[in-house]
Amino acid sequence: MRILITGNMGYVGPVLTKFLRDTLRDAELIGFDTGYFGHSLTGAGLLPEALLDRQVFGDIREFPPELLDGVDAVVHLCAISNDPMGNKFEAVTGEINRDATVRIARLAAERRVKSFVFASSCSMYGYAEGGARKESDPTNPLTAYARSKIGSEKAMAELDRKGMLVTSLRFATACGMSDRLRLDLVLNDFVACALTSGEITVLSDGTPWRPLIDVEDMARAISWAIRRRRENGGDFLAVNAGRDESNYQVRDLAEAVARHVPGATVSINTNAPPDKRSYRVDFALFRSLAPDSIPQVTLDQSIERLRDGLTGMGFKDKDFRSSPYMRLKTLESHMAAGRLGSDLRWRFRAAGGVAGERTRPQDAA
Ligand SMILES: NC(=O)c1ccc[n+]([C@@H]2O[C@H](COP(=O)([O-])OP(=O)(O)OC[C@H]3O[C@@H](n4cnc5c(N)ncnc54)[C@H](O)[C@@H]3O)[C@@H](O)[C@H]2O)c1
Repeated sequence: MRILITGNMGYVGPVLTKFLRDTLRDAELIGFDTGYFGHSLTGAGLLPEALLDRQVFGDIREFPPELLDGVDAVVHLCAISNDPMGNKFEAVTGEINRDATVRIARLAAERRVKSFVFASSCSMYGYAEGGARKESDPTNPLTAYARSKIGSEKAMAELDRKGMLVTSLRFATACGMSDRLRLDLVLNDFVACALTSGEITVLSDGTPWRPLIDVEDMARAISWAIRRRRENGGDFLAVNAGRDESNYQVRDLAEAVARHVPGATVSINTNAPPDKRSYRVDFALFRSLAPDSIPQVTLDQSIERLRDGLTGMGFKDKDFRSSPYMRLKTLESHMAAGRLGSDLRWRFRAAGGVAGERTRPQDAA
């Protein structure tokens, strides 16, 4: 089986690559990424991409169709992957997250790819009072990022898929250790706070609800989706990926982290207005379709792995909220160094139709 993973050089990609290498031993794995975060390794003993059969560098907006020849499954992780980046690069987020996604899904269908797995997000539920959200409930996207995920799902549902199965996994908020760690995720942030300053500062009043999923369990769900059959969920499936017990209030996450880091305290901003993003999610459909692939990593395990991983790296940066472990900061530092334009295209690469952009100095601003 030949599997193409787009956006493989981010946070989820290295964990997914290892999981697929371990569980689908005969699979040929190809990565495609532009490498925004390629250098942001966290003490890995081995370059994660060394586990692939091939790594291709390129911009998803100019994805070369021939790379899909002979491919059985596409796992599409590539995205501008959070709200802060999506807010700063709103139009580009639409181009990369929605337009390029729809194009690669169409190309994959035309090339007779059997299975297309899309990394969607529960953040499309936005602010949801009342009970846990099911797939059939209305969405309430609050950001460009969330809107891009909804737009991609809608277009893929309507696409002439020519028999290709599409699985859109609406992932809970990711957490856990990766060879390319991100600290702009709630649980990861709390563990880093606890270790570096001894104080977990919750930036809201702690009441918002957030479902979590460990990156390893994201890989488990993706592996299931790659192998999913039509009888199990149909041609196009959008499914919440996570588990019901992992809907947490943010203050409970902070307290759980404090229990694992001796001496750490929790500071909640009781005056903060409630976070606009708050939602609980119902994962019953996923449980019924993928009973053997539901999340297995406990909250305690995610915290311990993060704690041990960060400690093993000698991580001490109290100012990590301004560090390259925040994805937006990495993009901004590429731009400040003149490597990346405001269109998020590399200025040193003459990709189709953008060479002229490289000569416009204002793009570095
Ligand atoms: N981390 C989460 O909490 C979470 C939750 C739900 C869904 N997801 C989704 O899962 C996927 C993977 O998330 P992640 O945390 O690994 O994100 P990430 O930002 O760490 O990685 C995304 C990768 O895509 C690549 N990329 C971005 N734009 C590109 C372009 N124009 N051309 C080629 N490559 C490009 C980046 O270089 C990066 O390696 C994303 O689609 C994300 O939206 C993530």
